[in-house]
Amino acid sequence: HLMVYLMKTNYSMTNLFLQPFTPPPAKYGGRHTVTLIPGDGIGPELLNHVRELFRFCCVPVDFEVVRVDSSASSEDDINNAVTAIKRNGVALKGNIETNHNLPPSHKSRNNLLHTSLDLYANVMHCQSLPGVPTHHKDIDVIIIRENTEGEYSSLEHEIRNVPGVVESLKIITRVNSLRIAEYAFNLAREKGRRKVTAVHKANIMKLGDGLFLQCCKEVAAGYPDITFDKMIVDNTTMQPQQFDMMVMPNLYGNVVSNVCAGLVRGPGLVPGANYGKDYAVFETATRNTGKNIANKNIANPTATLLASCLMLNHLKLHAYAKMIRKAVLKTFHLFSHVSISLQLQTADLGGQGTTSEVAHSIMQEIQRGGPRTS
Ligand code: NAI
Repeated sequence: HLMVYLMKTNYSMTNLFLQPFTPPPAKYGGRHTVTLIPGDGIGPELLNHVRELFRFCCVPVDFEVVRVDSSASSEDDINNAVTAIKRNGVALKGNIETNHNLPPSHKSRNNLLHTSLDLYANVMHCQSLPGVPTHHKDIDVIIIRENTEGEYSSLEHEIRNVPGVVESLKIITRVNSLRIAEYAFNLAREKGRRKVTAVHKANIMKLGDGLFLQCCKEVAAGYPDITFDKMIVDNTTMQPQQFDMMVMPNLYGNVVSNVCAGLVRGPGLVPGANYGKDYAVFETATRNTGKNIANKNIANPTATLLASCLMLNHLKLHAYAKMIRKAVLKTFHLFSHVSISLQLQTADLGGQGTTSEVAHSIMQEIQRGGPRTS
């Protein structure tokens, strides 16, 4: 099982040789085609706001919508989505629900997407937003999460003839640890970050996390301009506001990114990106479905809109990304004015505004900025 897993997850020495991420070229009259996976919960309605905003801003992107039924027993839907992303190179998605009451053979569709496309680096830039009051101030941390192995191998079984005992494999490989560390240090240099902290639990998982840590140390030696530090994961979650950039295995990445999103006021605000050598998929950083608030027009659209800006940056449509991001942030700033904040901010930020009202205010802000075609 382990060998098949390693083969399926592109365990190959060629992975070590990182190549620059090049977005697919624009086609059909300078327009890009992007796969759009609505997902579950609030995904479809928030992605509709992205489409509306893109139309309003004359963004040269066409969406190919691919639906994935999270409860279907067959993997046809997710395989179709993978094929579409391979064709288009880029996707924007809502999160796909993972029902833990389904049998173990039913794998997380999100996870299948990451492994099938070898989207090995999950990147979340967690920042305090202007006009959003938080307990911790001036948070600005980049979290790099290994996205294809670790605890997400789906290799577990109840031991034969020993009921009540389950083995669950956490896979850490040298190749994938080196490449995520290399990705982190490379990005740190590109973004002018001074310190990278490897997050681990090598005091308990001496071999697995020990290997991850060792790989980070080896890569750090090639970046003398960047300070390397390490911290045990539990200690990290107690003081996550202090970091510059963090790199960590899969599950710690999930937990720490959710903790950090909480620090800046929640899942509705922070965008996320998944990069591999050939493909990129953009979504909200904490990958929530927000099922309890779906179709009520109360979800905060910020994280999804900012994810669409990351996608535009990836497509090198920087002017459009800048215009939308600026309008989103400016709208926040306006909302921070006490007398109008309650009417216009969404409920997660203590307001009474609807999703459409926020989206509309962002459009008005763009309108104020003048002509929208480049
Ligand atoms: P959830 O979807 O229940 O969200 C947590 C809370 O945040 C809810 O109260 C929700 O209403 C609120 N929220 C989320 N997005 C919001 C927005 N845009 N605006 C305002 N409020 C918002 O979170 P949960 O239980 O973690 O995830 C639900 C589903 O997503 C499950 O199927 C799970 O398997 C799947 N999932 C979650 C991941 C995660 O990192 N949290 C990762 C992968 C899958």
